[in-house]
Amino acid sequence: MPLPYSEIVMEHFKHPRNVGRIEDADAKSIEGSPACGDMVAVYLKVDGESQRIADVKFESYGCASNIATGSIITELAKGKTLQEAKAITWKQASEALGGLPPIKTHCSVLAVDGLRAAIQNYEERHGLVKERVPTTVEVVRKRLKRVMNPLTGLDLVRTKVVEDIEIAEGTVRVVIDLPADHQFAANIREEIIEKIEPLWDVDKVVVEFTE
Ligand code: FES
Repeated sequence: MPLPYSEIVMEHFKHPRNVGRIEDADAKSIEGSPACGDMVAVYLKVDGESQRIADVKFESYGCASNIATGSIITELAKGKTLQEAKAITWKQASEALGGLPPIKTHCSVLAVDGLRAAIQNYEERHGLVKERVPTTVEVVRKRLKRVMNPLTGLDLVRTKVVEDIEIAEGTVRVVIDLPADHQFAANIREEIIEKIEPLWDVDKVVVEFTE
């Protein structure tokens, strides 16, 4: 039985706004949904002086609801300050779409999380993070929950391949229980570095594989 999507959802799904990537983006994020394993990437261009979002684009590897939400939140976020864009909720996005079936809530949450993570990435890269809590193993583990294991479509923590995390004098060492010549090893390393390095007290990220 087809899901009861509103006309607005269908319109945004068929003609999504702001799809694509920004090659010289000021910030970006890739978020995965723990509920379904789908992913969304968000790219931002920010006007440094006014702190307004000059451009935003997204790529969705998710379903129709996710694509429609990505489309609407990028529309809502464009031209807003980072603070204003951070305050956009999945509820606002879903209302702007004329509602989503409850079973599809996580899809709009994923798109909104993608936008927030991109804003956070910008703030970290530009020294705008106010709450400077020290990076702990738990903080690193939480970020690794956002790195997908492409073999399974689930994150590294859930697929239990994070063997060890060590933090010493600004260096974070992550040991992944996969062979170094694994087909996705380079991707996984790159994504881990991308997620951990922006943390304010991290200078270096070392990713090791067990075999
Ligand atoms: Fe995965 Fe919608 S089912 S994003």
